Amino acid sequence: MTIIRTLTIAALVLGLAAVAGADPFTGQDLEKWFGEYKSVVAKGEKLFHDNTLGSNAVSCDMCHPHAANTHPETYPKFQKQIGKVVELRDMVNWCIENPLEGKPLKADDERMIQLEAYMAWERRGVALDPGKH
Ligand code: HEC
Repeated sequence: MTIIRTLTIAALVLGLAAVAGADPFTGQDLEKWFGEYKSVVAKGEKLFHDNTLGSNAVSCDMCHPHAANTHPETYPKFQKQIGKVVELRDMVNWCIENPLEGKPLKADDERMIQLEAYMAWERRGVALDPGKH
């Protein structure tokens, strides 16, 4: 009995290990995925510098050159303009609706993801510091 139980447990553990290791990735995969990411960053950079998001020809870079002062690493955090703890995308929409006089983007709008990717890329290497002002 004990031997059978031991063998069953060993088989389960080996099975799980096989499942966990079933999805290896190669250097080519990494290159492709990073390439995809960088193409989204490039689209975000373009959006950040053009004036297609609002109605008054204002662009993000006029107030946030190089996105350096957008501080994605500090989110979620309390923002007094909104009066509660919010995500980075809520401040993106606050800026689209106020300085840019435009319509807010849905969280899964590809333009929102492009802007987030660009701002995060500009701040790469900065330690996460949620809640900080
Ligand atoms: C007319 C100037 C202006 C423009 C244009 C503008 N913003 Fe802002 N933005 C602000 C101000 C003011 C704040 C509030 C600063 C604060 O309280 O942290 C802010 C805050 C932010 C924050 C949060 C920064 C932080 O430190 O927490 C993000 C992210 C942001 N803006 C993104 C954008 C994006 C993306 C665009 C273009 C769609 C944009 N902004 C356009 C003025 C502007």
